[in-house]
Amino acid sequence: MAIERTLAIVKPDATRKGVVGEAIRAAEEAGLTPVAIRRIHLTRAQAEGFYAVHRARPFFADLTAFMSEGPVVVMALEGPDAIATWRRLLGATDPGKAEEGTLRRRFGTNIQANGFHGSDGGETAAFEMGYFFAGLEIP
Ligand code: CMP
Repeated sequence: MAIERTLAIVKPDATRKGVVGEAIRAAEEAGLTPVAIRRIHLTRAQAEGFYAVHRARPFFADLTAFMSEGPVVVMALEGPDAIATWRRLLGATDPGKAEEGTLRRRFGTNIQANGFHGSDGGETAAFEMGYFFAGLEIP
């Protein structure tokens, strides 16, 4: 298994529910180490920049409004197969369809306010980590 890094976000609905610790616990129990953590209240423009790849989607406006409505906690997670491992812990995009025990099933709200984000591939992870952390902030 390759040691990778991925970008995880605890979204505004989940920070409001006070489950940042649950996300970190799930990551650590799966062998992923948070190598950088930051809490930030995104502006609308910053949320739009992060989700630029989705700008043509019908849900883009609602998604970026939601992502800027309250603070998020962003983390770079490192460990074996970090990208796939973290996505497995999250479960399906729609919390109602996510498997029992996954973070989105346990703490997500709906398909948009689904509690957590995880990069979907190596290139995305590199872009997303660079969006939030300068090189020197990740050892
Ligand atoms: P995330 O994994 O952060 O990637 C894109 C986000 O868009 C996704 O989680 C959801 O928050 C949101 N999203 C995806 N599909 C839909 C949908 N059909 N309706 C509303 N929001 C969605």
